[in-house]
Amino acid sequence: MEQYVIKGGKPLYGTVRVQGAKNSALPILAATLLVEGIHEIRDVPHLSDIDVMGRILKALGVRMRWDGNNIKLETSTIKTSRIPESLMRQMRSSIFLMGPMLSRLHEVIITPPGGCAIGARPIDLHLKGLSLLGAKIEEGDGFIRCTATKLRGADIHLDLPSVGATENIMMAAVRAEGITVIRNAAREPEIADLESFLNRMGADVSGAGTPTVVIRGVPRLHSVSYEVIPDRIVAGTLAAAAAMTGGEILLTHVVMDHMGSTLELLERTGAILKFEGDSLWVKGSSQLKAVGNVVTGPYPGFPTDMQPQLMALLSVTAGSSNISERIFDGRFKHVKELVRMGAKLHPLKNSVEIEGVSHLHGATVQATDLRAGAALVIAGLAAHGTTRVLGLHHIDRGYDHLDRTLLQLGGQIQRWSGKVASC
Ligand code: EPU
Repeated sequence: MEQYVIKGGKPLYGTVRVQGAKNSALPILAATLLVEGIHEIRDVPHLSDIDVMGRILKALGVRMRWDGNNIKLETSTIKTSRIPESLMRQMRSSIFLMGPMLSRLHEVIITPPGGCAIGARPIDLHLKGLSLLGAKIEEGDGFIRCTATKLRGADIHLDLPSVGATENIMMAAVRAEGITVIRNAAREPEIADLESFLNRMGADVSGAGTPTVVIRGVPRLHSVSYEVIPDRIVAGTLAAAAAMTGGEILLTHVVMDHMGSTLELLERTGAILKFEGDSLWVKGSSQLKAVGNVVTGPYPGFPTDMQPQLMALLSVTAGSSNISERIFDGRFKHVKELVRMGAKLHPLKNSVEIEGVSHLHGATVQATDLRAGAALVIAGLAAHGTTRVLGLHHIDRGYDHLDRTLLQLGGQIQRWSGKVASC
Protein backbone atom coordinates (compact mmCIF):
# COMPACT_ATOMS: atom_id res chain seq x y z
CA MET A 1 0.00 0.00 0.00
CA GLU A 2 1.42 3.41 -0.98
CA GLN A 3 2.55 5.47 1.96
CA TYR A 4 4.82 8.27 3.08
CA VAL A 5 7.47 7.07 5.48
CA ILE A 6 8.60 10.05 7.54
CA LYS A 7 11.49 10.15 9.98
CA GLY A 8 10.50 13.02 12.22
CA GLY A 9 12.26 15.43 14.50
CA LYS A 10 14.38 17.26 11.93
CA PRO A 11 13.72 21.01 11.50
CA LEU A 12 12.90 22.14 7.95
CA TYR A 13 15.38 24.54 6.36
CA GLY A 14 15.61 26.06 2.90
CA THR A 15 13.66 27.79 0.18
CA VAL A 16 10.73 26.58 -1.84
CA ARG A 17 8.46 28.15 -4.45
CA VAL A 18 4.76 27.69 -3.69
CA GLN A 19 2.68 25.95 -6.37
CA GLY A 20 -0.22 27.56 -8.23
CA ALA A 21 -3.61 27.39 -6.51
CA LYS A 22 -5.68 24.27 -7.09
CA ASN A 23 -8.87 26.07 -6.17
CA SER A 24 -8.18 28.77 -8.77
CA ALA A 25 -7.00 26.43 -11.49
CA LEU A 26 -10.07 24.17 -11.32
CA PRO A 27 -12.78 26.79 -12.01
CA ILE A 28 -10.53 28.60 -14.49
CA LEU A 29 -10.00 25.39 -16.48
CA ALA A 30 -13.77 24.93 -16.49
CA ALA A 31 -14.25 28.55 -17.60
CA THR A 32 -12.15 27.98 -20.74
CA LEU A 33 -15.21 26.14 -22.08
CA LEU A 34 -17.06 29.46 -22.27
CA VAL A 35 -15.53 30.30 -25.61
CA GLU A 36 -14.04 28.53 -28.60
CA GLY A 37 -10.31 28.97 -29.11
CA ILE A 38 -6.90 28.09 -27.77
CA HIS A 39 -6.35 29.00 -24.14
CA GLU A 40 -3.22 28.71 -22.05
CA ILE A 41 -3.47 28.37 -18.28
CA ARG A 42 -0.12 28.81 -16.55
CA ASP A 43 1.35 27.61 -13.26
CA VAL A 44 -1.14 24.77 -12.91
CA PRO A 45 -0.02 22.27 -10.27
CA HIS A 46 0.27 18.56 -11.14
CA LEU A 47 -2.53 17.13 -9.00
CA SER A 48 -4.96 14.27 -9.35
CA ASP A 49 -7.92 16.73 -9.16
CA ILE A 50 -6.47 18.66 -12.11
CA ASP A 51 -5.95 15.35 -13.89
CA VAL A 52 -9.63 14.46 -13.39
CA MET A 53 -10.68 17.90 -14.68
CA GLY A 54 -8.43 17.30 -17.71
CA ARG A 55 -9.98 13.89 -18.33
CA ILE A 56 -13.48 15.40 -18.15
CA LEU A 57 -12.53 18.17 -20.58
CA LYS A 58 -11.05 15.59 -22.96
CA ALA A 59 -14.18 13.44 -22.68
CA LEU A 60 -16.21 16.51 -23.70
CA GLY A 61 -13.99 16.88 -26.78
CA VAL A 62 -11.43 19.46 -25.64
CA ARG A 63 -7.86 18.96 -26.87
CA MET A 64 -5.43 19.50 -24.04
CA ARG A 65 -1.65 19.41 -23.67
CA TRP A 66 0.64 19.96 -20.69
CA ASP A 67 3.90 21.83 -21.12
CA GLY A 68 5.66 21.85 -17.74
CA ASN A 69 3.15 23.61 -15.47
CA ASN A 70 1.19 25.18 -18.29
CA ILE A 71 -1.84 23.70 -20.00
CA LYS A 72 -2.92 24.52 -23.54
CA LEU A 73 -6.56 23.84 -24.34
CA GLU A 74 -8.34 23.91 -27.68
CA THR A 75 -12.02 24.27 -26.78
CA SER A 76 -13.56 24.53 -30.27
CA THR A 77 -13.96 20.79 -30.50
CA ILE A 78 -16.59 20.08 -27.80
CA LYS A 79 -18.85 17.26 -28.90
CA THR A 80 -21.13 16.47 -25.97
CA SER A 81 -22.95 18.14 -23.08
CA ARG A 82 -22.91 15.05 -20.87
CA ILE A 83 -20.19 14.74 -18.25
CA PRO A 84 -19.21 11.07 -17.77
CA GLU A 85 -20.54 9.72 -14.49
CA SER A 86 -17.34 7.88 -13.52
CA LEU A 87 -15.33 11.15 -13.69
CA MET A 88 -18.07 13.30 -12.14
CA ARG A 89 -18.03 11.09 -9.06
CA GLN A 90 -14.28 11.48 -8.60
CA MET A 91 -14.29 15.19 -7.90
CA ARG A 92 -16.74 17.75 -6.57
CA SER A 93 -15.20 20.48 -8.72
CA SER A 94 -16.74 18.85 -11.79
CA ILE A 95 -19.78 20.88 -10.74
CA PHE A 96 -17.96 24.01 -12.03
CA LEU A 97 -18.54 22.80 -15.57
CA MET A 98 -22.27 23.45 -15.27
CA GLY A 99 -22.13 27.23 -15.59
CA PRO A 100 -19.79 27.41 -18.60
CA MET A 101 -21.44 24.49 -20.44
CA LEU A 102 -24.90 25.90 -19.94
CA SER A 103 -23.70 29.24 -21.29
CA ARG A 104 -21.95 27.76 -24.31
CA LEU A 105 -24.00 24.64 -25.18
CA HIS A 106 -27.37 25.55 -23.58
CA GLU A 107 -27.41 22.14 -21.95
CA VAL A 108 -25.44 20.17 -19.39
CA ILE A 109 -26.12 16.72 -17.98
CA ILE A 110 -24.34 15.68 -14.79
CA THR A 111 -24.58 13.14 -12.02
CA PRO A 112 -24.22 14.25 -8.39
CA PRO A 113 -20.53 15.14 -7.81
CA GLY A 114 -18.09 13.32 -5.51
CA GLY A 115 -15.21 14.84 -3.54
CA CYS A 116 -13.42 14.67 -0.20
CA ALA A 117 -15.45 13.08 2.60
CA ILE A 118 -15.63 16.14 4.85
CA GLY A 119 -19.37 16.31 5.44
CA ALA A 120 -22.60 16.85 3.55
CA ARG A 121 -21.90 18.93 0.45
CA PRO A 122 -25.19 19.77 -1.26
CA ILE A 123 -25.38 21.67 -4.56
CA ASP A 124 -28.72 23.41 -3.97
CA LEU A 125 -27.18 26.91 -4.17
CA HIS A 126 -25.58 26.14 -7.54
CA LEU A 127 -28.91 24.91 -8.89
CA LYS A 128 -30.85 27.81 -7.37
CA GLY A 129 -28.50 30.32 -9.00
CA LEU A 130 -28.62 28.69 -12.41
CA SER A 131 -32.38 28.39 -12.27
CA LEU A 132 -32.72 32.11 -11.41
CA LEU A 133 -30.67 32.82 -14.54
CA GLY A 134 -33.35 30.97 -16.51
CA ALA A 135 -32.10 27.39 -16.60
CA LYS A 136 -34.61 24.58 -16.48
CA ILE A 137 -33.44 21.91 -14.07
CA GLU A 138 -34.67 18.33 -14.28
CA GLU A 139 -33.52 15.83 -11.71
CA GLY A 140 -33.93 12.19 -12.74
CA ASP A 141 -32.71 8.85 -11.52
CA GLY A 142 -29.10 9.72 -10.68
CA PHE A 143 -28.71 12.62 -13.13
CA ILE A 144 -29.36 16.36 -13.31
CA ARG A 145 -30.12 17.97 -16.66
CA CYS A 146 -29.92 21.76 -17.01
CA THR A 147 -31.09 23.47 -20.16
CA ALA A 148 -31.55 27.09 -21.17
CA THR A 149 -32.14 28.50 -24.62
CA LYS A 150 -31.24 31.89 -23.20
CA LEU A 151 -29.77 32.92 -19.86
CA ARG A 152 -30.93 36.25 -18.41
CA GLY A 153 -29.30 38.34 -15.68
CA ALA A 154 -30.87 38.03 -12.23
CA ASP A 155 -30.57 39.21 -8.65
CA ILE A 156 -29.35 36.19 -6.69
CA HIS A 157 -29.00 36.01 -2.93
CA LEU A 158 -26.95 33.07 -1.64
CA ASP A 159 -28.12 31.75 1.73
CA LEU A 160 -24.47 30.86 2.41
CA PRO A 161 -21.39 32.46 0.84
CA SER A 162 -20.59 29.29 -1.13
CA VAL A 163 -17.32 29.48 -3.05
CA GLY A 164 -18.37 27.03 -5.74
CA ALA A 165 -21.87 28.46 -6.21
CA THR A 166 -20.48 32.01 -6.53
CA GLU A 167 -18.02 30.80 -9.18
CA ASN A 168 -20.57 28.71 -11.08
CA ILE A 169 -23.05 31.58 -11.24
CA MET A 170 -20.33 34.04 -12.32
CA MET A 171 -19.37 31.74 -15.20
CA ALA A 172 -22.97 31.15 -16.28
CA ALA A 173 -23.76 34.86 -16.14
CA VAL A 174 -20.89 36.34 -18.17
CA ARG A 175 -22.72 35.91 -21.46
CA ALA A 176 -26.28 36.14 -20.10
CA GLU A 177 -28.47 38.97 -21.29
CA GLY A 178 -28.47 41.85 -18.79
CA ILE A 179 -27.00 42.28 -15.35
CA THR A 180 -26.56 39.62 -12.67
CA VAL A 181 -25.96 40.54 -9.06
CA ILE A 182 -24.76 37.86 -6.62
CA ARG A 183 -25.42 38.91 -3.02
CA ASN A 184 -23.77 37.27 -0.01
CA ALA A 185 -21.15 36.02 -2.47
CA ALA A 186 -18.05 34.22 -1.21
CA ARG A 187 -15.03 36.52 -0.99
CA GLU A 188 -12.13 34.07 -1.33
CA PRO A 189 -9.07 35.19 -3.36
CA GLU A 190 -9.88 32.42 -5.85
CA ILE A 191 -13.15 34.24 -6.67
CA ALA A 192 -11.17 37.40 -7.45
CA ASP A 193 -8.80 35.30 -9.57
CA LEU A 194 -11.74 33.92 -11.55
CA GLU A 195 -13.02 37.48 -12.00
CA SER A 196 -9.62 38.53 -13.39
CA PHE A 197 -9.57 35.57 -15.75
CA LEU A 198 -13.11 36.22 -17.01
CA ASN A 199 -12.38 39.92 -17.51
CA ARG A 200 -9.21 39.06 -19.40
CA MET A 201 -11.48 37.02 -21.71
CA GLY A 202 -13.59 40.13 -22.32
CA ALA A 203 -16.23 39.69 -19.59
CA ASP A 204 -17.48 42.54 -17.41
CA VAL A 205 -17.36 41.32 -13.80
CA SER A 206 -16.77 43.50 -10.74
CA GLY A 207 -16.96 43.24 -6.97
CA ALA A 208 -15.20 39.88 -6.49
CA GLY A 209 -13.65 39.91 -3.04
CA THR A 210 -16.68 41.75 -1.66
CA PRO A 211 -20.08 40.24 -0.78
CA THR A 212 -21.65 41.65 -3.96
CA VAL A 213 -20.45 40.51 -7.37
CA VAL A 214 -21.90 42.23 -10.42
CA ILE A 215 -21.76 40.60 -13.85
CA ARG A 216 -22.80 42.59 -16.90
CA GLY A 217 -23.48 40.15 -19.72
CA VAL A 218 -21.35 40.59 -22.84
CA PRO A 219 -22.07 39.11 -26.28
CA ARG A 220 -18.57 37.86 -26.99
CA LEU A 221 -15.51 36.50 -25.20
CA HIS A 222 -12.12 35.51 -26.51
CA SER A 223 -9.47 32.96 -25.53
CA VAL A 224 -6.49 34.04 -23.39
CA SER A 225 -3.27 33.07 -21.66
CA TYR A 226 -3.53 33.40 -17.88
CA GLU A 227 -1.48 32.52 -14.77
CA VAL A 228 -3.29 31.38 -11.64
CA ILE A 229 -2.51 32.84 -8.20
CA PRO A 230 -0.24 31.05 -5.68
CA ASP A 231 -1.83 28.46 -3.42
CA ARG A 232 -2.40 30.09 -0.03
CA ILE A 233 -3.26 26.78 1.65
CA VAL A 234 -0.09 25.06 0.45
CA ALA A 235 1.89 28.09 1.67
CA GLY A 236 0.09 27.89 5.04
CA THR A 237 0.76 24.15 5.31
CA LEU A 238 4.50 24.59 4.70
CA ALA A 239 4.65 27.55 7.09
CA ALA A 240 2.96 25.45 9.80
CA ALA A 241 5.43 22.62 9.12
CA ALA A 242 8.38 24.99 9.55
CA ALA A 243 6.94 26.41 12.78
CA MET A 244 6.17 22.99 14.16
CA THR A 245 9.59 21.49 13.42
CA GLY A 246 11.41 24.54 14.81
CA GLY A 247 12.85 25.19 11.35
CA GLU A 248 13.43 28.24 9.22
CA ILE A 249 12.18 28.40 5.64
CA LEU A 250 11.65 30.92 2.89
CA LEU A 251 8.55 30.51 0.76
CA THR A 252 8.58 32.36 -2.53
CA HIS A 253 5.56 33.04 -4.77
CA VAL A 254 3.23 33.94 -1.89
CA VAL A 255 0.55 36.64 -1.66
CA MET A 256 0.51 37.90 1.91
CA ASP A 257 -2.89 39.59 1.52
CA HIS A 258 -4.46 36.18 0.88
CA MET A 259 -3.12 34.67 4.09
CA GLY A 260 -4.08 37.17 6.80
CA SER A 261 -5.89 34.94 9.29
CA THR A 262 -3.46 32.03 8.86
CA LEU A 263 -0.42 34.24 9.42
CA GLU A 264 -2.04 35.92 12.39
CA LEU A 265 -2.55 32.54 14.07
CA LEU A 266 0.96 31.35 13.28
CA GLU A 267 2.31 34.51 14.88
CA ARG A 268 0.14 33.95 17.95
CA THR A 269 1.89 30.58 18.45
CA GLY A 270 5.21 32.41 18.65
CA ALA A 271 6.44 31.61 15.13
CA ILE A 272 8.34 34.52 13.59
CA LEU A 273 7.21 35.69 10.16
CA LYS A 274 8.65 38.25 7.79
CA PHE A 275 7.38 39.31 4.40
CA GLU A 276 9.31 40.87 1.59
CA GLY A 277 7.79 41.22 -1.85
CA ASP A 278 6.27 37.85 -2.66
CA SER A 279 8.43 35.96 -0.15
CA LEU A 280 7.51 34.77 3.31
CA TRP A 281 10.19 33.84 5.82
CA VAL A 282 9.04 31.60 8.68
CA LYS A 283 11.02 30.66 11.74
CA GLY A 284 9.74 28.23 14.33
CA SER A 285 10.44 28.30 18.01
CA SER A 286 11.12 25.58 20.54
CA GLN A 287 8.49 27.12 22.80
CA LEU A 288 5.33 27.48 20.77
CA LYS A 289 2.26 28.76 22.64
CA ALA A 290 -1.41 27.79 22.55
CA VAL A 291 -3.72 30.32 20.89
CA GLY A 292 -7.08 30.03 22.71
CA ASN A 293 -10.16 29.76 20.51
CA VAL A 294 -10.08 29.45 16.74
CA VAL A 295 -13.21 29.33 14.59
CA THR A 296 -13.14 28.53 10.89
CA GLY A 297 -15.16 30.83 8.66
CA PRO A 298 -15.64 32.05 5.12
CA TYR A 299 -12.82 34.29 3.87
CA PRO A 300 -11.41 36.48 5.37
CA GLY A 301 -12.04 34.19 8.35
CA PHE A 302 -9.69 31.35 9.25
CA PRO A 303 -9.86 28.83 6.36
CA THR A 304 -11.36 25.42 6.98
CA ASP A 305 -8.69 24.13 4.57
CA MET A 306 -6.01 25.01 7.17
CA GLN A 307 -7.93 23.67 10.18
CA PRO A 308 -6.36 20.16 10.30
CA GLN A 309 -2.82 21.52 9.81
CA LEU A 310 -3.35 24.11 12.56
CA MET A 311 -4.64 21.37 14.85
CA ALA A 312 -1.46 19.36 14.24
CA LEU A 313 0.62 22.43 15.13
CA LEU A 314 -1.43 23.31 18.23
CA SER A 315 -1.00 19.72 19.46
CA VAL A 316 2.59 20.57 20.38
CA THR A 317 2.17 24.06 21.81
CA ALA A 318 2.26 24.87 25.51
CA GLY A 319 -1.28 25.28 26.89
CA SER A 320 -4.82 24.67 25.64
CA SER A 321 -6.50 25.77 22.44
CA ASN A 322 -9.87 25.07 20.92
CA ILE A 323 -10.84 24.81 17.26
CA SER A 324 -14.48 25.07 16.10
CA GLU A 325 -15.31 23.99 12.56
CA ARG A 326 -18.14 26.03 11.06
CA ILE A 327 -17.90 25.26 7.33
CA PHE A 328 -18.04 21.47 7.05
CA ASP A 329 -19.71 19.08 9.46
CA GLY A 330 -17.36 16.12 8.98
CA ARG A 331 -13.93 17.64 9.00
CA PHE A 332 -12.44 16.19 12.16
CA LYS A 333 -11.40 12.76 10.89
CA HIS A 334 -7.74 13.62 11.49
CA VAL A 335 -8.41 13.88 15.25
CA LYS A 336 -8.34 10.12 15.82
CA GLU A 337 -5.13 9.81 13.79
CA LEU A 338 -3.35 12.65 15.61
CA VAL A 339 -4.34 11.00 18.90
CA ARG A 340 -2.53 7.85 17.69
CA MET A 341 0.57 10.03 17.47
CA GLY A 342 0.21 11.14 21.08
CA ALA A 343 -1.85 14.34 20.63
CA LYS A 344 -4.26 15.12 23.47
CA LEU A 345 -7.44 16.10 21.66
CA HIS A 346 -10.94 16.09 23.10
CA PRO A 347 -13.66 16.30 20.45
CA LEU A 348 -16.90 18.00 21.45
CA LYS A 349 -19.76 18.56 19.00
CA ASN A 350 -18.33 20.89 16.36
CA SER A 351 -15.12 21.68 18.14
CA VAL A 352 -11.99 20.05 19.49
CA GLU A 353 -10.19 20.94 22.70
CA ILE A 354 -6.43 20.68 22.24
CA GLU A 355 -4.18 20.16 25.22
CA GLY A 356 -0.63 20.73 24.03
CA VAL A 357 1.95 17.98 24.61
CA SER A 358 5.74 18.30 24.52
CA HIS A 359 6.05 16.11 21.42
CA LEU A 360 4.20 13.65 19.18
CA HIS A 361 5.52 10.20 18.42
CA GLY A 362 5.59 8.26 15.17
CA ALA A 363 2.66 5.96 14.27
CA THR A 364 0.92 4.47 11.26
CA VAL A 365 -1.93 6.82 10.38
CA GLN A 366 -4.55 7.11 7.66
CA ALA A 367 -5.23 10.22 5.60
CA THR A 368 -9.01 10.41 5.22
CA ASP A 369 -9.17 13.57 3.12
CA LEU A 370 -6.80 16.05 1.52
CA ARG A 371 -6.09 18.48 4.37
CA ALA A 372 -6.28 15.76 7.04
CA GLY A 373 -3.52 14.04 5.09
CA ALA A 374 -1.42 17.21 5.01
CA ALA A 375 -1.87 17.59 8.79
CA LEU A 376 -0.61 14.06 9.39
CA VAL A 377 2.44 14.64 7.20
CA ILE A 378 3.47 17.79 9.06
CA ALA A 379 2.78 16.05 12.38
CA GLY A 380 5.05 13.23 11.20
CA LEU A 381 7.83 15.69 10.35
CA ALA A 382 7.76 17.06 13.89
CA ALA A 383 7.18 13.75 15.72
CA HIS A 384 9.82 11.62 17.38
CA GLY A 385 10.37 8.41 15.44
CA THR A 386 8.87 7.09 12.22
CA THR A 387 5.40 7.93 10.91
CA ARG A 388 3.72 6.11 8.05
CA VAL A 389 0.92 8.05 6.36
CA LEU A 390 -1.47 5.92 4.30
CA GLY A 391 -4.14 7.15 1.87
CA LEU A 392 -1.79 9.21 -0.30
CA HIS A 393 -4.39 9.56 -3.08
CA HIS A 394 -6.12 12.14 -0.88
CA ILE A 395 -2.92 14.20 -0.52
CA ASP A 396 -2.22 13.95 -4.26
CA ARG A 397 -5.48 15.82 -4.92
CA GLY A 398 -4.03 19.08 -3.65
CA TYR A 399 -0.25 18.95 -3.11
CA ASP A 400 2.06 18.73 -6.12
CA HIS A 401 4.61 16.06 -5.09
CA LEU A 402 4.52 17.00 -1.41
CA ASP A 403 7.37 14.59 -0.66
CA ARG A 404 9.68 16.34 -3.15
CA THR A 405 8.80 19.75 -1.72
CA LEU A 406 9.60 18.58 1.80
CA LEU A 407 12.78 16.80 0.73
CA GLN A 408 13.90 20.11 -0.76
CA LEU A 409 13.45 21.57 2.73
CA GLY A 410 15.50 18.78 4.31
CA GLY A 411 12.51 16.75 5.52
CA GLN A 412 13.13 13.01 5.79
CA ILE A 413 10.21 11.68 3.82
CA GLN A 414 9.97 8.92 1.29
CA ARG A 415 7.12 7.78 -0.90
CA TRP A 416 6.98 4.05 -0.61
CA SER A 417 4.91 2.23 -3.17
CA GLY A 418 5.09 -1.19 -1.59
CA LYS A 419 6.34 -2.63 -4.86
CA VAL A 420 9.60 -4.54 -4.88
CA ALA A 421 11.45 -4.23 -8.18
CA SER A 422 11.96 -7.58 -9.88
CA CYS A 423 15.27 -8.36 -11.53
N1 EPU B 1 -23.17 24.48 0.60
C1 EPU B 1 -24.53 24.26 0.54
N2 EPU B 1 -25.12 24.24 -0.68
C2 EPU B 1 -24.43 24.44 -1.83
C3 EPU B 1 -23.05 24.68 -1.76
C4 EPU B 1 -22.43 24.69 -0.53
O1 EPU B 1 -25.18 24.05 1.56
O2 EPU B 1 -25.04 24.43 -2.91
C5 EPU B 1 -22.50 24.48 1.92
C6 EPU B 1 -21.46 23.36 2.03
O3 EPU B 1 -22.05 22.14 2.41
C7 EPU B 1 -20.51 23.91 3.06
C8 EPU B 1 -20.55 25.41 2.81
O4 EPU B 1 -21.73 25.66 2.04
O5 EPU B 1 -21.00 23.64 4.35
C9 EPU B 1 -19.36 25.96 2.06
O6 EPU B 1 -19.16 25.23 0.86
P1 EPU B 1 -18.58 25.92 -0.44
O7 EPU B 1 -19.57 25.77 -1.53
O8 EPU B 1 -18.08 27.26 -0.11
O9 EPU B 1 -17.35 24.97 -0.76
P2 EPU B 1 -16.92 24.38 -2.14
O10 EPU B 1 -17.07 25.38 -3.21
O11 EPU B 1 -17.51 23.04 -2.32
C10 EPU B 1 -14.45 25.23 -1.93
C11 EPU B 1 -13.09 24.62 -1.98
C12 EPU B 1 -12.89 23.77 -0.74
C13 EPU B 1 -13.03 24.67 0.49
C14 EPU B 1 -14.40 25.37 0.48
C15 EPU B 1 -14.57 26.37 1.60
C16 EPU B 1 -12.71 24.38 -4.34
C17 EPU B 1 -12.50 23.48 -5.49
N3 EPU B 1 -12.97 23.79 -3.16
O12 EPU B 1 -15.36 24.14 -1.88
O13 EPU B 1 -11.56 23.27 -0.81
O14 EPU B 1 -12.91 23.91 1.66
O15 EPU B 1 -14.57 26.07 -0.78
O16 EPU B 1 -13.56 27.30 1.58
O17 EPU B 1 -12.62 25.58 -4.46
C18 EPU B 1 -9.79 21.85 -0.27
O18 EPU B 1 -9.10 22.46 -1.09
O19 EPU B 1 -9.31 21.04 0.56
C19 EPU B 1 -11.24 22.06 -0.25
C20 EPU B 1 -12.09 21.19 0.28
